[in-house]
Amino acid sequence: SPRVLSGIQPTADSFHLGNYLGALRQWVALQDTHEAFYCVVDLHAITVDYEPAVLRRRCKVAAAQLLAMGVDPDRSTLFVQSQVPEHAELAWVLGSITGFGEAGRMTQFKDKSAKQGASAASVGLFTYPILQAADILLYTPEPGEGERDFQVPVGEDQRQHLELTRTLAQRFNHRFGTTFVVPEAYIPQGAAKIADLQEPLSKMSKSSSSPQGILDVLEESGPLRKKIMRSVTDTGTEVRYDPEEKPGVTNLLRIYSALAQTPVTDLEQRYAGSGYGQFKKDLAALVIDTFTPIRERTEKLLADERDLDRILARGAARAGEVARGTMDVVRDRVGFLGRG
Ligand code: TYM
Repeated sequence: SPRVLSGIQPTADSFHLGNYLGALRQWVALQDTHEAFYCVVDLHAITVDYEPAVLRRRCKVAAAQLLAMGVDPDRSTLFVQSQVPEHAELAWVLGSITGFGEAGRMTQFKDKSAKQGASAASVGLFTYPILQAADILLYTPEPGEGERDFQVPVGEDQRQHLELTRTLAQRFNHRFGTTFVVPEAYIPQGAAKIADLQEPLSKMSKSSSSPQGILDVLEESGPLRKKIMRSVTDTGTEVRYDPEEKPGVTNLLRIYSALAQTPVTDLEQRYAGSGYGQFKKDLAALVIDTFTPIRERTEKLLADERDLDRILARGAARAGEVARGTMDVVRDRVGFLGRG
């Protein structure tokens, strides 16, 4: 059957609006049509500085938020990456068919390592996209005739990692025999790159310079409203879509359009002549209406962690079964002895 896989890092106390619109909303929708595997990627999170106790907590909060957004554990497999050791095992195999120069061309590595000073960056940060390819390819549908649908819902910033994943799948298939369905990036129109509210030319990101530019899913209505009202707009008063001249307003229009499922042109008409104030007020109400129930459900799930732990244990068991099935084939193809 068609499958979908995606992952998210537990690197902050809350997911943000960029994660939600760029990826997580699609995770929820794709459960209706696909067998879904969704993963909190803690192995990826340890490639930069972190605190073990904070990481453990954030994994739980991440899983709770995904459930609160509508990831349904009865229909989808929700799990934590480190609980399925095959991720690291396949990453090793794929690393051995990845060129050093090929990995070095990944722009996210270049950006992140530049921030830390190139020699301070870990080897794990360098091989990060290979682990991501393993995350995906472990859950390949059976290759063959008929259905070969394998989707990976992500934001624009993951496009290059998905390209590498496709290259590695094809290379492995060519070298060792067809094993993987080549996955496709499932990137939404319009909301694939949500910008920072204070710096509309940069993407909204956990590592952004100021919290004023980020709308957190678990944030209270007061601060959410304040951040939106104080978001950077552009000279003039017109609510008009214009990425060159009006990047701030354009970002807000994209957010509004995605949340209200209304075309941008309709919004431009609705706010013609009314200035930025009313537009921002209505947008704030929309964001608050979206995030408040998610925050409340997340808090409830975290109040008693037994259910959450049970769901994650079940997810890890199911994901492990699929992952071991794939690794049995991979191990055989690449010439390893059977599992002792
Ligand atoms: P991460 O944890 O940084 O982000 C999770 C998802 O949110 C998307 N996203 C955005 N979309 C639109 N606008 C933004 N400003 C924005 N910021 C983040 C990301 O594109 C992503 O889809 N390497 C991945 C995690 C990963 C993964 C995987 C993804 C690990 N293994 C396997 C898919 C499949 C990452 O760091 O995402």
